[in-house]
Amino acid sequence: MRSLTAVLALAAAMLGAGPAAAQSQRVLVQRGEVLVRQHCALCHAIGRDDVSRYPGAPLFRELSKRYPVDVLEEALAEGFTSGHPAMPEFTFSPERAASIVAYLMSIQTDPRARPQRR
Ligand code: HEC
Repeated sequence: MRSLTAVLALAAAMLGAGPAAAQSQRVLVQRGEVLVRQHCALCHAIGRDDVSRYPGAPLFRELSKRYPVDVLEEALAEGFTSGHPAMPEFTFSPERAASIVAYLMSIQTDPRARPQRR
């Protein structure tokens, strides 16, 4: 589980490294938000209290009710499809996939899915 290890390493780095690491985590989350706004907001609710524009597209803030959000990191970097005909296949660079996951983690309503502080 490379992605989980990366997340744990990040959490550890944040605990140890203080403001600099927290700062870069914020940048990651902000980049992820931009990407998600560009590529996913057409159909999915991407915020804390919006609704999905495409009926049936899951609310991003509730993804962790289905599975741990960090499993998406690898999927996003390798070619991600939901199996739903309306949803296009996406492939992101590993950096972009990591920022999308950082953003998704930051908005989960289930607090156990949110290791990072905002
Ligand atoms: C054209 C509309 C559309 C766009 C754009 C779109 N999605 Fe989806 N997505 C859907 C629909 C509809 C579903 C529901 C699929 C289902 O439940 O079968 C879905 C499902 C999902 C799921 C749940 C998959 C599962 O198997 O549980 C994830 C995660 C997801 N999308 C992520 C994304 C991400 C990340 C983006 C942007 C990079 C994105 N989607 C862009 C329509 C879209």
